[in-house]
Amino acid sequence: MLVLGIDTSCDDTSAAVVRDGREILSNVVASQISLHHQYGGVVPELASRKHIEWILPVVCEAIEEAGIDPARLEGVAVTSGPGLIGALLVGLNFARAFAYGLSLPWVGVDHLEGHVAAIFLERDFPAFPFVALLVSGGHTILYYVTGPARFELMGQTRDDAAGEAFDKVSKMLGLGYPGGRVIDSLSRKGDPARISFPRAYMTKHGFDFSFSGVKTAVARYLQRHATVFEREIPDIAAGFQESVIDVLVRKTVKAVEEKKTDRLVVAGGVAANSSLRKRMAAEAGRLGVALYIPRPELCTDNAAMIAAAGHHHLANGETGAIDMDAYSKSTLTKTNDVTNKSTTKISSR
Ligand code: KG4
Ligand code: ZN
Repeated sequence: MLVLGIDTSCDDTSAAVVRDGREILSNVVASQISLHHQYGGVVPELASRKHIEWILPVVCEAIEEAGIDPARLEGVAVTSGPGLIGALLVGLNFARAFAYGLSLPWVGVDHLEGHVAAIFLERDFPAFPFVALLVSGGHTILYYVTGPARFELMGQTRDDAAGEAFDKVSKMLGLGYPGGRVIDSLSRKGDPARISFPRAYMTKHGFDFSFSGVKTAVARYLQRHATVFEREIPDIAAGFQESVIDVLVRKTVKAVEEKKTDRLVVAGGVAANSSLRKRMAAEAGRLGVALYIPRPELCTDNAAMIAAAGHHHLANGETGAIDMDAYSKSTLTKTNDVTNKSTTKISSR
């Protein structure tokens, strides 16, 4: 099945063509970073307007790059949430109209499910079940994934997402937006042991995370040291990054041990971080667990992952309702008990 995927959840306009949920024929991502950079973060209204300008050319480019006639498409999958409502509505309405025009089935896909599904676009992908750490700009969640679209929530952040902390610390250090990639590369030049920032292991809170403390600790450090020399910035970046990674790694290892699984997936924008990838690989080796991390461009937002997740739903015969709305909060973040391992099984629809 040839599926057109569309994602406009935040500041990237993306369209992709994927065969059978596995093979990427095209994956076009038009980034708005240069637009939002000057404001130090994404300006929702500007993001929506850019999506309106770009959605048609981006979809046309994806179809052209895939080298297919649009009449050969068999379904459309679009992110319906979570994300910025105005931005999501551009993709959702476009996808709905496009599918209607070509008499194609279409489905709304949860962006978080898409991030995890990115691993099925790799040659090497896991069988079910597996533990998945989803680390992005908006979410930090541990799941036990028992099937396609079957996500058991184990824990999630109680405040900032890991990516959000990277972005905020980057802003404090005057490194701009988005911060993850800059902190990643600067950290390679720094000494992570020179400045130690706190680690919120939250041992009494199961698999939940908290990253607002480390962000505040960096802010306090900068307030205490009225002059921070340029040469110190890599050490601050490396110290901060190490603290976030220590927590992500320790909690993920605990989740793998708890579920007695030998398969681990790490996904989402922060999974592009070079140091996190290395540390996870070392831990997986020590535990004898097979580690699956999508290549960096499939970790950050892209429409191929939405097509991969959507393929499963379309193949199941699901179709989107004509009055489907966009949503800002995912159902994949809801549980009856966030204080410890929940056994609530939540499917994406
Ligand atoms: O998944 P994503 O593209 O968008 C969301 O769904 O949020 O993730 C974006 C987040 C941003 O916070 C960005 O700073 C972070 O991923 N990120 C990184 C790296 N590349 C992107 N964080 C750490 N290291 C990186 N190399
Ligand atoms: Zn994302």
